[in-house]
Amino acid sequence: MLFDAYANASLTLANRIAMAPMTRCRANHQDAVPNDLIVEYYRQRAAAGLIISEGVPVSDRARGYLDTPALWNEDQAAGWKKVTDAVHAAGGKIFAQIWHCGRISHASLHADGSAPAGASIKPAAAQVRIAGPDGTPVSVDCGQPEALTLSEIRGVIGEFANAARLSKLAGFDGVEIHGANGYLLDQFRCPAVNNRNDAYGGSLANRYRLLLEVVDAVAAEVGPDRIAVRQSPYGAGNGMTPDPEPLVTYPWLARELEKRGIGFLHIYAQTADWIHEAGHPMMPALRDSYGGGLIACGGFKSAASCEAILQRGHADLIAIGKPFIANPDLVERLRRDAALNNWDPKSFYGGDERGYLDYPALNA
Ligand SMILES: Cc1cc2nc3c(=O)[nH]c(=O)nc-3n(C[C@H](O)[C@H](O)[C@H](O)COP(=O)(O)O)c2cc1C
Repeated sequence: MLFDAYANASLTLANRIAMAPMTRCRANHQDAVPNDLIVEYYRQRAAAGLIISEGVPVSDRARGYLDTPALWNEDQAAGWKKVTDAVHAAGGKIFAQIWHCGRISHASLHADGSAPAGASIKPAAAQVRIAGPDGTPVSVDCGQPEALTLSEIRGVIGEFANAARLSKLAGFDGVEIHGANGYLLDQFRCPAVNNRNDAYGGSLANRYRLLLEVVDAVAAEVGPDRIAVRQSPYGAGNGMTPDPEPLVTYPWLARELEKRGIGFLHIYAQTADWIHEAGHPMMPALRDSYGGGLIACGGFKSAASCEAILQRGHADLIAIGKPFIANPDLVERLRRDAALNNWDPKSFYGGDERGYLDYPALNA
């Protein structure tokens, strides 16, 4: 199954293996335009049925880390066009992961020095990567956020819609809305962070209102089939508190996405092993609620581990992260059950082509 095509009404993917979105911080912070290194990195990995790009901030204030390539203007779209052309020429498909970091940020990352945007003024107990005094990257605590006003919320929805519009200019096959991992849209979902008493806080429907308004605005640009929404049930990264009622929360969202005909729901198991357990209730609950392409991610390292969840019917596609960093030809290695190169976390974020473009392929 893993090596069979997957199709919906608008899109055909050559196999069920997706490259998970991974921030690598190889762009220039000033213009945030993808460069030739980034083109080559994605070209090398185009055998994936679907590449989901690293998170691309939808505005300057959406940025939360130094040197992330972005998608809020036409220069950035032109840079991404070189990436998508290279991936398409190699037979692949690629979505842009559109991203607002919210409170996982720092004023120094924003051209106007604006404070991080939050669902509330509660700061995140997490760190971000900024430029130190001599320009060298350093890790620092996230800055004090300001709670978004209602008109700023409208602005954020407009930024996601603009990024979706630009994704077409850039030649992307679709977009993934980053609703996971403690970033802005996830901060609105989380009752421990979102203490608003307006239409965007309180009930589950209110806390998911921003995400669903973003989904609708993006669907108006690219069509529902070409959208993925990422969620991280049980996740506690980036200063989050795990959801108090995950088996209510995530199936509720899945049903809302189903009503809208959204193409893909991408589930990241941040807290390790639950997604691999046949008896765990989350993936079956999502499957019952959602008929689109269900993507599972987290700790998949062999074709057998991918096939197991596909055969159970609890996922349609498998997204793989770190093994794709270290194995540009991961699809071929899985097909042959070949050994994998190990990844080096030191070169995950920032730097040059080392630890980025120089992992060897099997026949190299
Ligand atoms: C270097 C690195 C950068 C990441 N950046 C992102 C990101 O930009 N957006 C996102 O949704 N997840 C991001 N993730 C999480 C991955 O998409 C993936 O969910 C995680 O690595 C677990 O999958 P794996 O076990 O196959 O690596 C990142 C992970 C790594 C290792």
